[in-house]
Amino acid sequence: MILSSLLFFAASAVALILDVASSGGNQSSSLLYGVLYEDIYHSGDGGLYGEMLRNRAFQGSSSGGAASLARNTDYWHPFGGATIAIDTSSPIISSSLPYQMRMDVPAGTKGTVGFYNEGFWGFDVDATKRYVASLYMRGNYSGTVNCYFQSNTTGQNLGLTSMSIDQTSSAGWVQSHSATFQPSQSGSNGNNTFYFTFDGSKLAGQSVYFNLLSLFKQTFNNRFNGVREDLADSLFNMNAKYIRLPGGNNMEGNNSPYEWKWNRTIGSLTDRPGRPGSWGDINTDGFGLLEMMQMAQDLGLEVILGIWAGLYLDGEVISEANLQPYKVSVMNELEFLLGDKSTTYGAQRAALGFPSPFPIKWIEIGNEDYLNGGTDSYYAYRFMTFYNAIHAVYPSINLVSTINPNPVTSKGSSLDLHIYGNENYFVSLFDTFDQASRKYPVFVNEYAATNTGSNNNGQVGAQTLGMSCAEAIFLLGCERNSDVIVGSAYGALIKNYNEAPNTVAVIKHTANEVLYTISYYVQKLFAEHMGTRTLPVTATNGGFGPVYWSATANSSSTILKLINYDGKTGSSNALQVNIKGSSKTSATLITLTAPSSKSVNNLPSLGGESSTITTTTLSGSAGSFSVSFSNPYEIAILIV
Ligand SMILES: *[C@@H]1O[C@H](CO)[C@@H](O)[C@H](O)[C@H]1NC(C)=O
Ligand SMILES: *[C@@H]1O[C@H](CO)[C@@H](O)[C@H](O)[C@H]1NC(C)=O
Ligand SMILES: *[C@@H]1O[C@H](CO)[C@@H](O)[C@H](O)[C@H]1NC(C)=O
Ligand SMILES: *[C@@H]1O[C@H](CO)[C@@H](O)[C@H](O)[C@H]1NC(C)=O
Ligand SMILES: *[C@@H]1O[C@H](CO)[C@@H](O)[C@H](O)[C@H]1NC(C)=O
Ligand SMILES: *[C@@H]1O[C@H](CO)[C@@H](O)[C@H](O)[C@H]1NC(C)=O
Repeated sequence: MILSSLLFFAASAVALILDVASSGGNQSSSLLYGVLYEDIYHSGDGGLYGEMLRNRAFQGSSSGGAASLARNTDYWHPFGGATIAIDTSSPIISSSLPYQMRMDVPAGTKGTVGFYNEGFWGFDVDATKRYVASLYMRGNYSGTVNCYFQSNTTGQNLGLTSMSIDQTSSAGWVQSHSATFQPSQSGSNGNNTFYFTFDGSKLAGQSVYFNLLSLFKQTFNNRFNGVREDLADSLFNMNAKYIRLPGGNNMEGNNSPYEWKWNRTIGSLTDRPGRPGSWGDINTDGFGLLEMMQMAQDLGLEVILGIWAGLYLDGEVISEANLQPYKVSVMNELEFLLGDKSTTYGAQRAALGFPSPFPIKWIEIGNEDYLNGGTDSYYAYRFMTFYNAIHAVYPSINLVSTINPNPVTSKGSSLDLHIYGNENYFVSLFDTFDQASRKYPVFVNEYAATNTGSNNNGQVGAQTLGMSCAEAIFLLGCERNSDVIVGSAYGALIKNYNEAPNTVAVIKHTANEVLYTISYYVQKLFAEHMGTRTLPVTATNGGFGPVYWSATANSSSTILKLINYDGKTGSSNALQVNIKGSSKTSATLITLTAPSSKSVNNLPSLGGESSTITTTTLSGSAGSFSVSFSNPYEIAILIV
């Protein structure tokens, strides 16, 4: 080893040398890499949530970018001479869904009538997958309802199913399901519609009523009312350890009384009224509390449960005197999730198919409670009201503050920092936690580099390699200090590309495609290769910048993460890594890079990915390895 070091020095006198100690670090947080779920720009409805029909139960609308309780038949279109309208005549299907769609069929109609839905910017039609359609109908109809996909590009019918209906209006609302079907052919793209068609001669001169129309493709783990398979796979492959849910600003609600309410998101879909979300769209709440918990369980993610802490986004705050019912609601929610079957709400959960309580170790009290003047009331009573109530019944649950400093600094109480800024800012944060107080643990439950370089003009939706490297540098700081930084989660996790191409997210989706940003690959690789303890690293011939690093180890390997940020390339600029105490002569090097700092990943149909991941084997001697970068912007993970 001495000899090879000497030779190395002879070749390059100024090469950076990193000596990775074999001990002397701290235990790292096993949760370090997590995700944030909230319904933002169709993360839930039209995203993870498997429902494919848009405006399925006429719960509201969005116009001018704001969610509204005004009802309309948007995304539905009649054909064959029928007309459709919003209707409130009795009987309604439920008090939660008091608006329905009426189809009027003119007297004398002979042909086929019906309507189609546009979906969430189309539909994925995949001949290898199973689908099922359903609807609730009121009125007189004895006949067949054909249900099928139609391609907008070719006009072709891509696969048909049907349901037989035999009902009269005196029967009230009747639910019918189609046979499960596989499309006869896959769509050439997502530009498809979904039709429900009726025998017009049997409806001539009549009106029939519809609500809660639904179309599901087979879901992740085949869950009923579950999540989209491809998107759940994307999350699964991130190797994240926890999920914070249900948000985020969307949990808070724009104004009274539209905070997210757990007990309106459980049970029969006909009992879920939905609510105006904070990001411009109506939430159906079909993706409710139990569906989220089921997804977390299926993905093996620990849950950080967000509870609403009395602040609406418009600045309205619940007074201390009026906070009691909200506290009771939270305690009921916790009993629902954590109580055994002998408790009132635990029994309700069991009756809904979840006999075992969920393991919840973390609860976050609110979200960004400093917004719009919330700080004073948070410190004065909002935090403590929830803290005291929860702590008294569930003393082992860790309670997270959304404002720094944490109102309670005793062991187990932690803090959630949200960090957004441009690329340069994220690079500057590389050492921000090195001197942090060790008094209480910190989550960074939202972060993102939202713009390139030093630019602050809004967000750059297509995250560049440079932005992702800057985030990676920040994450190295979290990892180096993962004795105090418990977890990190990018904001946002997932957005619909059609709706929000110009703001950042880890992944973006369309009806039939997924865009994996370079940030996605950073997080995936970092989470996949994460030790259980940190290791001190001593640098010779240089310090942080343009190369940044962090070392961890597990019982079998030392893992050194390196980032070249506008640095040198090629073997003549190789840095030398010495893993103290190691006699290994072979190491694995995984690199993530793209042609330039401005490179971005795109949807498969729009050019695909510019980033590449390469795995190579390095030879060295007795724990010493020479590592060179191939690109001025590159992420490298050395596993020895
Ligand atoms: C371990 O934590 C202490 C603070 O408790 C910190 O000063 C030290 O740098 C950490 N060690 C490593 C290797 O990160
Ligand atoms: C498909 O065409 C129909 C009819 O023009 C339209 O309503 C729908 O928005 C189109 N879908 C997409 C994804 O463009
Ligand atoms: C259904 O048919 C019955 C008997 O013909 C009629 O009284 C009733 O109005 C019809 N219902 C609707 C919704 O048209
Ligand atoms: C879908 O196809 C229709 C008809 O070809 C076209 O007008 C429309 O722009 C397409 N929509 C999308 C999103 O490509
Ligand atoms: C939900 O909980 C609130 C507050 O505890 C209560 O007032 C309301 O009736 C409940 N709603 C449902 C649908 O159970
Ligand atoms: C240690 O980390 C390496 C690199 O991620 C991994 O391949 C290996 O399986 C891990 N070993 C254990 C025991 O977890």
